[in-house]
Amino acid sequence: MRSSEFLQALLSTIDKSYKMSFSLKTQILLYFCQIFFPNYIKIAAKSRLKLKKDMINLVEKYRPDILIELGSGYSKDYFPLVNKSAIKNIIQIDKENITDRDRPHYKFVKGDITKYKVWSKIYNIKAKKGLVLTEGLFSYLNDEEFYFVINKLKGLVKKRYSLLTHEPIKPISVSRKIISIFIGKTYRRFMSAKEIKHYYESFGLKTQIIKSNKWQVIYRVYKT
Ligand SMILES: C[S@@+](CC[C@H](N)C(=O)[O-])C[C@H]1O[C@@H](n2cnc3c(N)ncnc32)[C@H](O)[C@@H]1O
Repeated sequence: MRSSEFLQALLSTIDKSYKMSFSLKTQILLYFCQIFFPNYIKIAAKSRLKLKKDMINLVEKYRPDILIELGSGYSKDYFPLVNKSAIKNIIQIDKENITDRDRPHYKFVKGDITKYKVWSKIYNIKAKKGLVLTEGLFSYLNDEEFYFVINKLKGLVKKRYSLLTHEPIKPISVSRKIISIFIGKTYRRFMSAKEIKHYYESFGLKTQIIKSNKWQVIYRVYKT
């Protein structure tokens, strides 16, 4: 099952704008979760929506000319910013072929960011003030894949890009572990904002912790 579709279904429980035609598998999983883990679903939907709103505000304030969304899934969240802010184009990349989006000024590239091939395409995207955005993607990468991606991002950060992202920092709950069986295994590699900063600094990258609470850290990585 697509993790992105489940995320949209989760968000649609509290915000109608995320409603779309969900597959039967997603509808059954959501129904099952609402019966067995009602609190988890309520809290997860609320915190995820808050995170989305924070990210949209941050992107709007940052005013990139090019936005690259890695692991974009079904996200349409940033399309309204095109022309409204400084964004001229949005390039979305996902390993799944998700092309049912209906906005101009965006390009979809199918590719696995843990493989070399897609990075030559990414490196060719020229920007004056570029922003790479990932939401809910890094937690699907194992340590080796994450290391590979951060090394590639390091090369991109040297080319007028910054990275804006967030990481979950709380240990995985039992409810989340059960949901992972259906939508894919997730990893928690950091336990605090301090650990995140330390990790990126070991690559020679600067990290600005923008917001952090006991579950999530929003941060920006940029050139030293
Ligand atoms: C939880 S969804 C988040 C979707 C979107 N960013 C959002 O917040 O609405 C994670 C997305 O990452 C994609 N993904 C996972 N591993 C990937 C990889 N190695 N390369 C590219 N995309 C990947 C999945 O296909 C999925 O669409």
